[in-house]
Amino acid sequence: MIAQKYVVEINNLTKVYRNLFSSCEVKAVDNLSFYIRRGEVCGFLGPNGAGKTTTVMLLLGFLKPTSGTISVLGQKPSHVGVKERIGFLPEESYFYKFFNADEILDYYGSLFKMESKVKRRRIDELIEMVGLKEARKRRLREYSKGMLRRIGIAQALINDPEFIILDEPTSGLDPIGTQEVKELIINLKQSGKTILMSSHLLADVQGVCDRVILLHQGKLIVEGPTREILSKKGYFRFEVQDDTGSTREQIRNFTEQNGIKITSMGTSAITLEEFFVKSIKNAGNNNIQ
Ligand SMILES: Nc1ncnc2c1ncn2[C@@H]1O[C@H](COP(=O)(O)OP(=O)(O)OP(=O)(O)O)[C@@H](O)[C@H]1O
Ligand SMILES: [Mg+2]
Repeated sequence: MIAQKYVVEINNLTKVYRNLFSSCEVKAVDNLSFYIRRGEVCGFLGPNGAGKTTTVMLLLGFLKPTSGTISVLGQKPSHVGVKERIGFLPEESYFYKFFNADEILDYYGSLFKMESKVKRRRIDELIEMVGLKEARKRRLREYSKGMLRRIGIAQALINDPEFIILDEPTSGLDPIGTQEVKELIINLKQSGKTILMSSHLLADVQGVCDRVILLHQGKLIVEGPTREILSKKGYFRFEVQDDTGSTREQIRNFTEQNGIKITSMGTSAITLEEFFVKSIKNAGNNNIQ
């Protein structure tokens, strides 16, 4: 099988929701075209109601387009074989709460008709990966929101999919969980997976996505490599070590003498997120009990 260059190709996609009982129509996706290259992590952004989840549902074949075309892994979304190659974390997961983590993953593994031994190994790996080792035998009804998000991520990966769609993967997670999920996404990318993730937490997207697609009212308004979109053309930054306290003055004098305009200057600081993660990690065991 030849691997396609594009994992997703969407052309002139429109989705109109019609209400059977009124004349009310909502154009959730409006003449949208974009592609996702194999091996990239793509951020899917937009304000509430922009059409992200609708597009994801169309990609998965759960909804039919009003017009336009979608190709996923070289097939139509309705193709049964293609569904086995996709992992999906929905915006909200609804699990049978009397199962524990092992049982729920075993159930999802069975849906993919995985061989028992392979399934067992995969479940162990995933539980370790999402940091639920200590809690694996507890019923899901006792899980916190963040723990349920972690089990949702494990479920999305049970079939070792080549294309992974994550709708708000970090919602409900604490900063450590968020950082772990970001690291997990980077690891998945390094193992050759293609990922589409939507998120309102823009720092998460900025940290992991190679490219971003920004929707507004169902339309694509910006699309491109993250670094390029965010770069401030014509400006650059230095961070210098200043042991003596005099470096600042020396640089100021140099720039003044050479007609260089400094547009911002200040003390370097870590983010509150970095500070939080560092402090909690220093305090000890971080596996959820
Ligand atoms: N089942 C539905 N029936 C009718 N309208 C819907 C339906 N689902 C979504 N919509 C409408 O389609 C538009 C896009 O919604 P969608 O859920 O795709 O946005 P979103 O970008 O995922 O938003 P959010 O960031 O809040 O999750 C909204 O105006 C919404 O009200
Ligand atoms: Mg949504």
